[in-house]
Amino acid sequence: MSVQEATTGFSTTYGYEPAGVWSAPGRANLIGEHTDYNNGYVFPFGIDRRTYVALSPRSDNLIRLSSTISDQVVEFELGKKQPADLDWALYPLGVAWVMRDSANGGFDAYFTSDVPVGAGLSSSAAIECAVATALNDIWEAGKSAQELALIGQRAENDVVGAPTGMMDQTASMLAKKDAAVLLDCQSMETELVPLGLQERGLVVAVMDTRVAHRHSDGGYRSRREACEAGAAAMGVDSLRGLTEEDLPAAQEALDELTFRRCKHVITENRRVLDAVDALKRGDMATLGQLLLQSHASMRDDFEISVVELDTAVELAMEVGAVGARMTGGGFGGAAIAIIDQSKMELLSEHCKAIFAKKGFAEPNVFAVAASDGARRDA
Ligand code: GLA
Repeated sequence: MSVQEATTGFSTTYGYEPAGVWSAPGRANLIGEHTDYNNGYVFPFGIDRRTYVALSPRSDNLIRLSSTISDQVVEFELGKKQPADLDWALYPLGVAWVMRDSANGGFDAYFTSDVPVGAGLSSSAAIECAVATALNDIWEAGKSAQELALIGQRAENDVVGAPTGMMDQTASMLAKKDAAVLLDCQSMETELVPLGLQERGLVVAVMDTRVAHRHSDGGYRSRREACEAGAAAMGVDSLRGLTEEDLPAAQEALDELTFRRCKHVITENRRVLDAVDALKRGDMATLGQLLLQSHASMRDDFEISVVELDTAVELAMEVGAVGARMTGGGFGGAAIAIIDQSKMELLSEHCKAIFAKKGFAEPNVFAVAASDGARRDA
């Protein structure tokens, strides 16, 4: 369907057929938050919501970008000053810029996506990974999936200006159906771990609070700085160099706030490994407890939750979820819950009712399934 939409959008906009269609998923992170830029562990999966790009190479240096979002076609030449107010077009432009050494001309591209924007489900990584995969093919750049993920991250860091880690792009590139990706952000080793939810009648529910967030704003950056300051004060390259055994010494050495920031990351790394273990053993109850502990750590120590996310987690537990936590960078976005498929309807109604009662925006509650990473579709 979306392949067709991208193809039709492309030919209507540019008056000729695209060379191909590529796509990449958004992601939900099961556990391991703000650990990626601390060289730690993350455990995300690709969701069944994707960004599709229909694309054709050009023989001149022009790049034209359009999408279902607006009728506007953004035009510029690689290497020239970029137009102002690029909005979503900054992501594909960023990727093209990072890959400019491989370029042998410009391209026309048309984007369509059903990854919700601002929900903490990495709609931007989905754009970056779809276009990086397409350019890798048409420019015959020969990059591996992991290299393309790092290209997406560089686009985000250097062009968009958000000091984010590599989790979102790695998930979007390497994801596999019914599995989550355990990524060691220090060694870059990955392991696909089957989720086994379906056979237990479970799903991952997303509760999008509709509280918008941006990681180029101060909150994300200040958390990163606190982690770096904590690591430096403790004499390690990154917080990955510390374990829970180091917490008493860290508490002595660091100011109270820096200590709590570091404590979240150090304990979260352990929770990721415990969660993977629990999942492998099929111990869903322990997995659920770890999700709740992760949320509490983000709420109390890392302080990146908002009242809507805390409420969503509580409501999910009230209707009988196995576990729940906010997902992604925080300050808004979505919470996830592992829950019986049969309770989805109830969860959605409960969230809507209580959010309305509290005067919050209407939440969007839906199930996601773990899906394949970036690929060529046509
Ligand atoms: C955002 C960033 C990721 C990661 C998460 C928090 O999604 O893009 O790199 O840091 O926040 O875990």
